[in-house]
Amino acid sequence: MDEINLPVVIRDRRVETPEVMCFELGSAEGRPLPDFLPGAYVDVRMGSAGIRSYSLVRRSGDRSSYLIAVKREAEGRGGSSWLHDKAEVGTALSISAPKGSFTWVEQPSMSCFVAGGIGITPLLPMIERAKALGRPWQLHYAAASPERMAFREQVERLGEAGGQVYLHFSDGSTPRLDVASVVRRLDASADAHLYCCGPGRMVDAFLAASAHRAAHTVHVERFGAGQALATEGGYQVELARSGSRHFVPPGKTILDVLIEAGADVPYSCGQGVCGACQTRVLHGDVDHRDCFFTEEEKASNSTMLICCSGACSDTLVLDL
Ligand code: FES
Repeated sequence: MDEINLPVVIRDRRVETPEVMCFELGSAEGRPLPDFLPGAYVDVRMGSAGIRSYSLVRRSGDRSSYLIAVKREAEGRGGSSWLHDKAEVGTALSISAPKGSFTWVEQPSMSCFVAGGIGITPLLPMIERAKALGRPWQLHYAAASPERMAFREQVERLGEAGGQVYLHFSDGSTPRLDVASVVRRLDASADAHLYCCGPGRMVDAFLAASAHRAAHTVHVERFGAGQALATEGGYQVELARSGSRHFVPPGKTILDVLIEAGADVPYSCGQGVCGACQTRVLHGDVDHRDCFFTEEEKASNSTMLICCSGACSDTLVLDL
């Protein structure tokens, strides 16, 4: 895992929607924060709540702060609740340098952005950049209702400033977002780049609809795991370097068990999204539950994400 050693302090917090809170993270040392590619994220270390990853919505004009938007996840592991309930103006946190591969490709042809819910956050800086460079872009953005759509006013302003913005609400007030037809309408534009960030089902539909396109023109990021974590348990994990063996009981992931055992293992999102916990598999069959590896990589059975995936065999031997 990258180091999480940039000290920041919460300068401001404001309610964006009933479920989304925005936090302005300012440099605790008064230094400019690193620049970032549109779409990048940072890991945020927050006391006892652990580490979570959040997309950077923007950096302030004087480069001294970042804006992140955090949706309260009732089913999450407590990180978003900690930020909503415990983090105040003045709370100190540590963050990593900006990173991530879901970033805007600076090219002259159409950029088509598809967002579901809080998935708008990495796309906003991409849109701002495309707009600043005068590049063509369009946004298709779905949310539960106008009140629950994060950054709706900003998006509407971007539309008024010349962008093509299509908003969809699942409360029945607009037609639902049809991801397949959005992709189809760009079939004649082979050089257009398509970006999608949203829940697993939306990303799956987007990928299925885009399967015929050149792979380098299709970009996705999920904000949650596509599948349930492998917590069925009932198998052994052997760490080849230390020689230790650990039983994974029902209700736990491999990562849970290794952390409890005091093993020094890297991780970040804990949901099979970021790849920070990637571990080489030396023996045994993996039950892959991530949305990180390609099908070929999964079939190779040589690597796995220990935060979400489990075992189909009685024992897994890991290069740890
Ligand atoms: S910690 Fe992010 S994929 Fe495992």
